[in-house]
Amino acid sequence: MDGNGRWAKERGLPRTAGHKRGVERVEEIIRAAAEVGVKVLTVFAFSSENWTRPKKEVNMLMSLLDNFLEKRIAELHKNNIRIRVIGRDKPIPDYILNKIDSAEKKTENNTGLTFVLALNYGGRAEIIDAARRFAEAVASGKESPEMLNEDKFEKYLYTAGLPDPDLLIRTSGEMRISNFLLWQLSYAEFYFIKKYWPDFGKKDLQTAIEEYDRRERRFGGINAVKKNS
Ligand code: IPE
Ligand code: MG
Repeated sequence: MDGNGRWAKERGLPRTAGHKRGVERVEEIIRAAAEVGVKVLTVFAFSSENWTRPKKEVNMLMSLLDNFLEKRIAELHKNNIRIRVIGRDKPIPDYILNKIDSAEKKTENNTGLTFVLALNYGGRAEIIDAARRFAEAVASGKESPEMLNEDKFEKYLYTAGLPDPDLLIRTSGEMRISNFLLWQLSYAEFYFIKKYWPDFGKKDLQTAIEEYDRRERRFGGINAVKKNS
């Protein structure tokens, strides 16, 4: 979800106005994704590098998140949506971590769309954390190095149990991955759109999925692999 700041600046508004509008878009896109049958929707809400932004902006983002957790979970739960948060806990304030915990627990048995919120997330940090946890399991005798393979390693990632993304969408015209889901995106289709996130709507999601449908995926082989319908 990129371009909130530029969206606001172009309108002579403070960056925070872009973030507010951005949250509304998240709500719309969750609904739209569930409607078209997306099984897992992951949004990059806050990166491990975003803490370097001005304190005022960071605080505002935390308060938007707090508000989202406070006001929106009940509705998501009603719509059978499961919530999962990926990223490092520290230094997210405890009162937010508690709300995340209760949102995940409340919705864990829901069978509709899984909404994954990447928060204080960094792809390299995730891989390091997984490697560390695996090493600890080896040290305590629960795992052995010879048993390590891709399937096993995945179980140590924040995204354990979730499928790899089929499609990555980045808004605002930037064409880079910015430390997002480095492991999981290995064979994802990439889709870049110039629109800023606060302008990205249901139609845009549909267009992206239609473009995805036209792509041929071969996963390193020579034959097209059938896509999920
Ligand atoms: C994305 O918009 C939202 C977050 C990272 C929280 P930006 O805040 O990155 O907006 P630009 O890139 O400055 O326009
Ligand atoms: Mg940005």
